[in-house]
Amino acid sequence: MKVGIIGSGTMGSGIAQVAATANCQVFVYDTNIASLEKSRQSLEKILARLIEKERINATEKNRIQTNISYVENLKELGPCDLVIEAIVERLDIKQQVFSELENYVSEETIIASNTSSLSIASIAAALKKPERCIGIHFFNPAPLMKLVEVIPAIQTSSEVESEVVSIISSWKKTVAVAKDTPGFIVNRVARPFYGEALKIYEEGLADFATIDWSLKTLGGFRMGPFELMDFIGNDVNYTVTETVFTAFYFDQRYRPSFTQKRFSEAGYLGRKSGKGYYDYSEGAVKSEPKEDPVLAKLIFDRVLVMLINEAADALFLNIASATDIDNAMTKGVNYPKGLLAWADEVGIDWCVMQLDALYEEYHEDRYRCSPLLRQMKRKNKTFF
Ligand code: NAI
Repeated sequence: MKVGIIGSGTMGSGIAQVAATANCQVFVYDTNIASLEKSRQSLEKILARLIEKERINATEKNRIQTNISYVENLKELGPCDLVIEAIVERLDIKQQVFSELENYVSEETIIASNTSSLSIASIAAALKKPERCIGIHFFNPAPLMKLVEVIPAIQTSSEVESEVVSIISSWKKTVAVAKDTPGFIVNRVARPFYGEALKIYEEGLADFATIDWSLKTLGGFRMGPFELMDFIGNDVNYTVTETVFTAFYFDQRYRPSFTQKRFSEAGYLGRKSGKGYYDYSEGAVKSEPKEDPVLAKLIFDRVLVMLINEAADALFLNIASATDIDNAMTKGVNYPKGLLAWADEVGIDWCVMQLDALYEEYHEDRYRCSPLLRQMKRKNKTFF
């Protein structure tokens, strides 16, 4: 099949590689010629490394590269069956590009956006045929991350949805279908991992290293929240939180943190700036955690139950199925377990008790227990 990619930056280049590896004929378009050239060169490097690691051979490298054409005119995406857009995160620009694209492609072409924060309904509204529009949300780096969220808008036809699920599955990705709501699954459900960790720090309960150590040791998370925020970039992570918070009409559960805002403002962005919650400069002394098992349990329980509550509420509001919510977190952000399966393991009763204790302590809306957990407790039910 023929796949068009609009935007040859980080995401567009990664998605092009995935589609070309799956033997699609790929056309990558960008308004910036230098970006197209950079994309071509970075693919060359990535594939050369894959050969070194013996993941692919020279024939496969050649096949992937010949499957991709870099084009300088949007018209050249005309023959595509599916077009995925990964340009700048601006609704007006995405809408403009989509309505121009519709002049060149056939009636049947599926038009998708890789947006992280805009609603698919608002993008689809720019099309004459909005039922062909859908969200296909890859994670960075697209070739490595198994998860792809597929987001039908209220305008999207069910045929387009099932066709996209089957195409993306054939690209060897795990699909999670999500409702067109802020943050879809991952960027919504993951918020407490950062937010509650930041709040624990702000309350002076523990420092960054201790919080990270607690979640890694007791939870089996590969990275602690502060290490992860430094890895993602404090500016990027803060923007996602603020966008989700605003989009949810300022639901206190998603309230951003001043600590992270100040770190961003100060340019302490994390690894990319050499300093974030940790110092990445040469010779910097590594912060050591306070290895106190009682404190660690307190920290871990609080973050875990907030994550579980968020996952349960996403299910309660039909954002996605239980299986898709769990797959999203294990395959999109490498959580050691799905949160709903984790809830079953620690017990629904325990989750409700923990959340009610937090609510009792703070009287803050952020600690309200999902009605689904309460109903399940009453009926003695489990998620799986
Ligand atoms: P990027 O900045 O690396 O690349 C964007 C590319 O789009 C640039 O090469 C730019 O020249 C091109 N572009 C801008 N306007 C254009 C236009 N009108 N027509 C054609 N090309 C145009 O951005 P990135 O990070 O790849 O993000 C792209 C999209 O993917 C955004 O919607 C973003 O929200 C989403 N996304 C980003 C993720 C990430 O981790 N970076 C993860 C998942 C989604």
